[in-house]
Amino acid sequence: MKKDLLSLLDISEEELQKLLAEAKHLKKMKKAGIPHELLKKKALAMIFEKPSTRTRLSFEVGMHDLGGHALYLNSEDLQLGRGEEIRDTARVSSRYVSGLMIRAYKHQTIVDFAKYSTVPVINGLSDREHPCQLLADILTIWEHFGSTTDIKVAWVGDGNNVCNSLVLSSAITGMIVNIASPAGFQPKTEVLERAIGLGGRVKVMNDPVEAVRDADVVVTDTWVSMGEEARYDVRIKAFQGYTVDDSLLKRASPDAIVMHCLPAHRGHEITDEVIEGPQSVVWDEAENRLHAQKALLVKMLGDTGV
Ligand code: CP
Ligand code: NVA
Repeated sequence: MKKDLLSLLDISEEELQKLLAEAKHLKKMKKAGIPHELLKKKALAMIFEKPSTRTRLSFEVGMHDLGGHALYLNSEDLQLGRGEEIRDTARVSSRYVSGLMIRAYKHQTIVDFAKYSTVPVINGLSDREHPCQLLADILTIWEHFGSTTDIKVAWVGDGNNVCNSLVLSSAITGMIVNIASPAGFQPKTEVLERAIGLGGRVKVMNDPVEAVRDADVVVTDTWVSMGEEARYDVRIKAFQGYTVDDSLLKRASPDAIVMHCLPAHRGHEITDEVIEGPQSVVWDEAENRLHAQKALLVKMLGDTGV
């Protein structure tokens, strides 16, 4: 049966360990210039309802490195944009390619798409989760600290899609996750309950200082995610005091690293000094999208037919 990645928890703890090892291996091969065409002639179609830089680039280059091909499809240019149903698009595109990636506004769109697709579907970001981002983030933390077990991660800002996936990661990584968000902008209750029910160590609070105390990793993201622009002013006001700046970073462990999935908004969720500073690993994190997703593609598309 085909397996999808709609949520980070579609991956087990054991699968995650294998994926990290494979990502490390593929990264080494790429840097050494050794060909690794593990998905020769396979095609991945990527449907985007929203803009993208990293997700598009990393999947396209990743498929190229693996000897396959990725097709960028803007949903507005497809018949989807003229009202063709998602289930029909899923059934038809499944007949041409070995895998599908979709970035959609509504998580339900991705769930419906996966239901009718006969090839594996990867969530390339929805309003609920960003599992591919977390794979890269976990890889970055694992490389930096040698393990993810007992690593203290502090999220400062909006309890959005990336934050929900971070919350879920606590159940498969052994990381301890503190979330500091203002009331009304905290991660989804069902996501928190799921993570905690599976043994994840997650706490939600309002105070960024409390969240980052002794943290090994400080993470943030935009205050206004794609699709949330209608309440722009309300959001900017609500997030005052949630900027990751030098004074907040000083409350974390002296060896803490700073992460951001990007795109960043300097002066809002993070200062220029912090993102450009010595503790920032955001460029390694962005690079790791490529290596983590290549490992994922090999796992998901590797044994399906052309
Ligand atoms: N982090 C991330 O997913 O970036 P893009 O929106 O540029 O793909
Ligand atoms: N939370 C951001 C992530 C972008 C990669 C958004 O949804 O816009």
